[in-house]
Amino acid sequence: MASLTLENVVKQYGRVTAVHGVSLSIADAEFVALLGPSGCGKTSTMRMVAGLEHISSGDIRIGGVVVNHRSPAERQIAMSFEHYGLYPHLTLFGNIAYPLAVRGTAEREIKSRVFEIANLLHVEDYLSSHPTEVSSGVQQRVSLARALVRSPSVFLLDEPLSHLDAEMRSRMRGELKRLQKAKRSTMLYVTHDQLEAMTMADRIAIMNEGRLQQVGTPREIYDRPANRFVATFIGEPPMNMIDATTANADDAILLRSANGGRVALLDGEPRERLLGAAPAVGGRVAVGVRPTDLDVVAPGNAGIPARVRLREFRGDDVLMTFDTAATRVRVIVQRDTAPDVGHNVVLVPRGDRLHLFSAESGDAIGHTGDRPDATRSTPL
Ligand SMILES: Nc1ncnc2c1ncn2[C@@H]1O[C@H](COP(=O)(O)OP(=O)(O)OP(=O)(O)O)[C@@H](O)[C@H]1O
Ligand SMILES: [Mg+2]
Repeated sequence: MASLTLENVVKQYGRVTAVHGVSLSIADAEFVALLGPSGCGKTSTMRMVAGLEHISSGDIRIGGVVVNHRSPAERQIAMSFEHYGLYPHLTLFGNIAYPLAVRGTAEREIKSRVFEIANLLHVEDYLSSHPTEVSSGVQQRVSLARALVRSPSVFLLDEPLSHLDAEMRSRMRGELKRLQKAKRSTMLYVTHDQLEAMTMADRIAIMNEGRLQQVGTPREIYDRPANRFVATFIGEPPMNMIDATTANADDAILLRSANGGRVALLDGEPRERLLGAAPAVGGRVAVGVRPTDLDVVAPGNAGIPARVRLREFRGDDVLMTFDTAATRVRVIVQRDTAPDVGHNVVLVPRGDRLHLFSAESGDAIGHTGDRPDATRSTPL
């Protein structure tokens, strides 16, 4: 196994720059998910690492060695892409066995390794079929099996679960993660599915419009998003953004929101710290608050006046959409406390769960739940 480093990697297609100087270090045996919306440059980045695409500028190192000019075969990587590219004339067994066969692996070992990985990915019943005879979900798992059957320096997987149904996806997420840990493989895993990234990755690299936005553990990214893009991209439903101006800071109220209400910051140390970082009184900020972090209380209380627009039953809880004077705000409430459509309420963002962003740059000013020890918790 080996580390993988990207240093200021740029990809230009003619005059279009798809990747703007991405720098990222993946440690030996680390699982990093490259996450971002469609078209943000994930596949382009991956294909440069794989050696399938010319690097416009920058360096890619595997195990500390620059591989910019090495062919895919010379890079000691295994990959699986969304468009599985199975060999149509080979059976599924033949497809999975292929990377071993071309390296001259003994037949008996090929068999045992193919059966092992086929079992793990639940394709063992299809091994004598040809690609066109099975569903796209099976084809995708075979493509994944073909990548995983080897033990290369680095695995590159690009949306390897995108064609699976929800149940199989969830099963495969667990199996893939377990396999990666057991093999101690270095993994770069491309996805636009935040659940995959959050559940599987040691660290997530979030990309938008060809640029890295933040690299961190799932917990860091969720609790301390570096900017508005990350804040609203991670979390389902997305974080609410409430435009606000800073008000008289001697008052308990720091922010007066454009929704005609007020947002109070938690007292104490985090508040003092944020006060120092926020713009002067009258300055504009965006206040981010996740749908789980607002209380819905009766009219007349201090907070943001709102009216129920939508009530979506989700099973254990209800997703409420409220109209306020300025923006729509979504809140998850317990199923037995959900007010009816048309009712007036007051929304009270929890003071210890607020995220403040600069109105100009969108960069994070701070997070009221910011307790450095809490975000760096050690696993049990
Ligand atoms: N061969 C190409 N020629 C020209 N432009 C390209 C080429 N491949 C990709 N692009 C452009 O580069 C940008 C990044 O594309 P890329 O495929 O890397 O995105 P992605 O993040 O993988 O998206 P998706 O989630 O849809 O797979 C897009 O604007 C795309 O149109
Ligand atoms: Mg892609």
